[in-house]
Amino acid sequence: MTFTVAIDGPAAAGKGTISKAVAMHFGFAHLDTGLLYRAVGAKVLAGADRLIAAQQLDPKDLEGDQLRTPQVAQAASEVAVDPQVRAALTDFQRSFATRPGGAVLDGRDIGTVICPQADVKLFVTASPECRAMRRFKELSDKGMSLTYDSVLADVRKRDERDRSRDTAPLIPAPDAVLIDTTDMAIDDAVARAVAVISRVSETH
Ligand code: CDP
Ligand code: CDP
Repeated sequence: MTFTVAIDGPAAAGKGTISKAVAMHFGFAHLDTGLLYRAVGAKVLAGADRLIAAQQLDPKDLEGDQLRTPQVAQAASEVAVDPQVRAALTDFQRSFATRPGGAVLDGRDIGTVICPQADVKLFVTASPECRAMRRFKELSDKGMSLTYDSVLADVRKRDERDRSRDTAPLIPAPDAVLIDTTDMAIDDAVARAVAVISRVSETH
């Protein structure tokens, strides 16, 4: 059985948290596709060619808190503009999406480009201020020293770049279910996602 859940949305909307919980609930595999772009971005910051980095990406490149820094996030969104980089990462994501037993992928273009045939598409969003506050707390808890204002600026800059690029821009798929988590506790957002997926999976 294959069953694909696509979860897209802007930076720090809660995609990863919801994806992990949904994967746990249904026993699906989970791929955070942002990590692919972050890993390429980190290699570029270290001096690598971005296309070679994307073509030679290794699963062990996707590990570690060093990929979570705002600098790497910016570098990720810069390499993500390049259609050749995106193309180099497509096959891996598509084969992950169709693995037996079900898969949830989160990112920016899963429901629109990577898996337009996904069984369920969610678009998770929240106000920029709310997303920046959550990301600020998350990174501060990890011991990074930064300010709320710098995190808000990072989030806004990446959102703008992600939305305005020509290839695979950040935009909800026409058939995506919107979940605005601005005034929603994470447990409620997860419950909403689980309810939507359950409804679809029961008809399969
Ligand atoms: O994957 P994405 O960048 O969209 O976001 P995330 O890493 O899942 O969430 C960013 C932070 O916001 C995490 O620390 C979550 O625990 C928190 N969060 C929250 O407090 N309430 C929500 N409704 C969603 C996320
Ligand atoms: O966790 P957060 O939402 O802050 O970012 P992420 O999901 O780790 O993605 C980092 C960057 O990678 C994004 O700002 C996008 O530019 C890019 N990305 C993308 O273009 N397509 C994807 N499917 C996933 C990430």
